[in-house]
Formats: sequence, C-alpha cells, structure tokens
Amino acid sequence: MSVVLDWSNLATDRLDGRGVPPADVDGPLADRFRQALRTVLGWRDDGRLGFLDLPDGVDIAHEVTARVSEWVAGVDDVLVLGIGGSALGAVVLRDALGGVRWNDSVALRRGRPRLHVADNPDPDSVRSLLADLDPARTAVNVVSKSGSTAETMALHLVVRAWMEEGLAGGGHAAVAEAVARRLLITTDPERGSLRPMAEREGIATLPIPPDVGGRFSVLSAVGLVPAAVVGADLPALLAGAAQMRDACLVDDLRRNPAGLFATLLHALHTDQGRPIHVMMPYADRLRPLAFWFQQLWAESLGKDGRGPTPLPALGAVDQHAQVQLFMEGPHDKVVVFLTAPFAGEVTVAAGSDAPEALRYLDGRGLGELLDAERRATTEALRRGGRPSATLELSAVDERTLGSVLMLLEVATVLAGALYGVDPLDQPGVEQGKLYTYGLMGREGFDPPDFPPADPARRAGA
Ligand code: PA5
Repeated sequence: MSVVLDWSNLATDRLDGRGVPPADVDGPLADRFRQALRTVLGWRDDGRLGFLDLPDGVDIAHEVTARVSEWVAGVDDVLVLGIGGSALGAVVLRDALGGVRWNDSVALRRGRPRLHVADNPDPDSVRSLLADLDPARTAVNVVSKSGSTAETMALHLVVRAWMEEGLAGGGHAAVAEAVARRLLITTDPERGSLRPMAEREGIATLPIPPDVGGRFSVLSAVGLVPAAVVGADLPALLAGAAQMRDACLVDDLRRNPAGLFATLLHALHTDQGRPIHVMMPYADRLRPLAFWFQQLWAESLGKDGRGPTPLPALGAVDQHAQVQLFMEGPHDKVVVFLTAPFAGEVTVAAGSDAPEALRYLDGRGLGELLDAERRATTEALRRGGRPSATLELSAVDERTLGSVLMLLEVATVLAGALYGVDPLDQPGVEQGKLYTYGLMGREGFDPPDFPPADPARRAGA
C-alpha cells in the first residue's frame, strides 16, 4: 500500500474518552458514510465528478510528455501562470517529485529547466521574477479553466508584452510566431477567451475537461505539464491515483481511507466541536501539499454557513510556533500528520570536543530526529486528549503522490455530502471576481457600492 491512513489516535480509547467511539465506525458513522457515498455516486452519474476519470487518461499523459519535451527544448525556465486550483498543484508536484531546491540546484535538474509558478499579481514579485528570466529561453504555460480569471489574464498579458519586447528584432510576424512557440495554454476545450485566442494565433493548447473543476484538476494537464517538466513518470502518477480511487469508492467504511478521513473529521467537527483541521507534513517536500489541501478543503466545503477551517502547518518548524496552541489551546482542532521516508539521511557527527549535552546526537540522523519529533508530538497530543491521524506515504514518488492527491479529492466530495454542501461550486469566490471586474472597469460589470472608511474608526501611529 502506498498511502495508509492511521486513525488510531482519533478514537476514544486512546484519548481518555474524547474522540470518536471506535464502535461507531461500524454503526452510526458507517450509515452516515454510506449515505454520503450514495450522494457522491449520484454526482458522478450526473457527470459532475470528471476528476474521478482523470487517472484513466493515459493518452493525455503521453500527449503531455511529448508536447512538453518539444516545448521546453532549449529553454532554461518554465513559467506557469495560474491561481488557486490552476497553480497550487504545480508547486506540489515540483517540490515533491523534483525536490524543494529544484530551481536552485543544477544537480537536481540534470539539464531540465527551472519551474516557476506565478499566481499573485504582485508587481514587485513579477518584476523581479521577469528581470531574472530570458524571454528567448523561457517557456510559458498559461493555466485557467475559465479562461477569464483577472489575475491570470493580467499576468498573461504582462508576460506576453515582456516576451514580445525581448524577442523583437525580426518583423511583426516573426515575433508573433516566436511568442506563440513559447506559449502553452491549458484551458477548457470550449469556454473562455484563451482558447479562441490560442486558435487564432497558433498557440498549442491542452484541455481541462469541462467536468473537472479547478481545485480537482491536478491530475489533468494542469498538473501533468509541470510534473513532466521535472521529469516525472506520468503513467505512474495516474496509476497511483487509479488504485486509490477504486479503494475510495467501496462502501465498507473501515476499508475506505477517503471515507474514514471525511467521516471522522466531519464527526469530530459536528459532534465534538472541532472545526479546525490541521494538515501537518513532516517533510519539506510535502509542505505545498498542505496548502493545496487547504484550498481544496476550504473552497469546497466553506459555504451556507457550514464547513471546517483547514490550517496548514509544518513539522518540526511549527513545533516552535503553532503546536503550543494545538496542545493547550481550545479543544477545537484535529491534526492530520503526513509522513514519508526521506530519500537519504544526513548523519550528525558530534566531534569529541562537542559539549556533553549534545553527545546524544552523535551518529543520529536528521531524518531520525524529525521522525522522533513527529512521534513525540503525536504522543503528547494524545495524552492531552487532542485527536490526530496520520497519513503515511510509503515513499515520495509518482505513485504515492497520485494516491494521496486522489484520496484527498475523494475525501473532499464525501465531506461535501456529509456537510450538506455542494463541494464543486464556489459562489463566494465568483462574487469577488465579479466585483473585481467592476472595480477594474470591465464592460458589463458594475463596481460594488461600498461605504467609505469612517475616519472615527481608524487609528494608527
Ligand atoms: O478551484 C477553483 O475552482 C478555483 O480555485 C480556481 O482554480 C481559480 O479561481 C482559478 O480559476 P481559473 O482556473 O478558471 O482561472
């Protein structure tokens, strides 16, 4: 098994009476889960859960591999432009499969390009990023399901102008051709403004299937392109996801890791007042996964006055920041640890003149230390009556990544059914997008009418 959910420390017998009575997993919680699974299977029959079919897309994996190897030939940098579900998965796959120092390390890249993800339209970041890149040796992947998101569209226009300026020299047609050759657009097959533009200008495109929403798109071309840039084995990524999908659609709660994840976290929230769900990897390479999960869980479940609050953390860094709160703050959290073996070990050598107090570290590994910290934190939480679960990855590789991403996606739609919300829409986000269009003067969109700041309610020094 490449990913295992260990929920031992969510159960009452481990938490001095707090937590979930383990027998409920065969009783009322199993009933709740089966009802939720029926709802999810209904959504699938209605054609709303295209993400479940993505692992079967071996053809698209081959197409992406071929397309990417042609598109990145001779480039030093790949720049992904997208936001939310169109950006976070790229960082997950780069850091997990390429390594957190991918962009800094020639040894890690072995001749492959650096991979940058620009999501926020912060002029300071964008200016300094572009100043470091050579437009003649940069390939740009514009990713937008809707083909209309203001942040991504604005970044796209900025980057195009930068390319046009940097590639100027030949005639207009030659520049346009050079820009088009460096662009790759990942978008809906029909909707939005990117696709007609790509067709008009001869820019290569890859599809995001219409029935796959942004935050569920990591296993489509959205994530496959960046994964291919770092040299990942795409069929293995999809195979891991396929295996997990099948395991997560069985109606036996005890054997269904996504079912347990969703049902137990939902029960701990709604029955026991623990609405905060912490995702805490103990590995730098998995850190972006906590942010990807945060977006998936928050945007899918936070609606109609309901939903949990996901909170990313990192072990051991947050042992010196948030763990005090997890340990002794309000009983309102469940911590999910994420563990995986390290690719290698670094051994501590305390020389003979090292202080006596540090000798215990001699000959021990940094990975061993990090793992001991995780186990110690888990146990301290348990003794304090604080529930935690662990997602154990057998390795950080394509198969395991595909598995864990799919597990969390299926858990999200199951949680949507349990909370009684539609996990596939995002009306709150859409409203903000419409107001932004109005404020930026887009035709057909009115700026919102909002009250000015009250001078009597402002203070500063
Ligand atoms: O999950 C979602 O649907 C959102 O986070 C989108 O990914 C985000 O708003 C970007 O949208 P788009 O890909 O249409 O530009």
